[in-house]
Amino acid sequence: MIQLDISRIYGDLREYLSSRLSFLPDKPEETLDSTLRALWFAAAGHLKSAEMALFGELPALDSTETFRLNSLVQSRLGGTPLAHLTGRQHFMGMDMLAGPGALVPRKETELLGAAAVERANEVASKQGRAIVVDVCTGCGNIALAIANRVPNAVVFAADLSDDAVELGRRNAAHLGLERQVEFRVGNLLEPFAQTNFFGQVDILTCNPPYINSVKVGQMPDEIAGHEPKLAFDGGPFGVGILMRVLEDAPRFLRKGGWLGIEVGLGQGPLLVKRIEKAGWFEEVSPLADQNGDIRAIFAMRK
Ligand SMILES: C[S@@+](CC[C@H](N)C(=O)[O-])C[C@H]1O[C@@H](n2cnc3c(N)ncnc32)[C@H](O)[C@@H]1O
Repeated sequence: MIQLDISRIYGDLREYLSSRLSFLPDKPEETLDSTLRALWFAAAGHLKSAEMALFGELPALDSTETFRLNSLVQSRLGGTPLAHLTGRQHFMGMDMLAGPGALVPRKETELLGAAAVERANEVASKQGRAIVVDVCTGCGNIALAIANRVPNAVVFAADLSDDAVELGRRNAAHLGLERQVEFRVGNLLEPFAQTNFFGQVDILTCNPPYINSVKVGQMPDEIAGHEPKLAFDGGPFGVGILMRVLEDAPRFLRKGGWLGIEVGLGQGPLLVKRIEKAGWFEEVSPLADQNGDIRAIFAMRK
């Protein structure tokens, strides 16, 4: 009887949402079913990302929870990001805390994250440990993914935004990684401008803001109206912050250490040339997504 009710209410809501809900291309994990299931679980007090909500039986909802589900559905239709309603976003196997204080991690960033994990693992198995720095860390997704997958990594993470760092620290505690990842607040690499970091870093990662300022104003409301502008705005040409990271990185990386950056659509070829021309790096390796677009670049410090 209860199962019948669940299927009926689910079916009705699914039909209602099917003509009203739209999805952003950079959140491919959000579908009609993953969205509705995540909201359903949230209404019942089980907070899950869209990816994790695909698993498990939906619980029966009492009248208060049904009311909550309806208001979550309306908020989602009003443009509030799903991850803000559930408080969760999945990244590289971790169900992380999400909220308005930092960018909701995107699936596309797993390209950079997975390549950084691979290199950190190689370094850690050769040297016994790997020193990792992640700047523009946001909610800490890349830093925490490396810590989670590379037990011998000693990870430092920083962001200019106090709110992002606060969420990053909460995520570290949520994932039980707070002893392995230290968060700092500050501008790019400035929080690490200390002799014990100069020439010592094995892996330096950065997913910076890289949208040009004009385009930031034209982004869908689900992004522009709900996520921090600081997470997107890369200045008039989009690559201003990336250029500063490229300039600062050589001072921090040890010889043989890796720089890994995420780049915006279309920025890859220019940035590969820029890195090659700068003269500090070798093995400049562009990483392409499934469409063949360069979305991350790794380069080894000479
Ligand atoms: C595109 S988001 C990336 C967040 C996260 N690393 C991820 O992959 O989802 C860029 C981040 O850079 C931060 N940021 C912007 N300007 C910065 C600066 N000058 N120094 C440090 N962090 C900065 C923003 O607060 C935001 O958290």
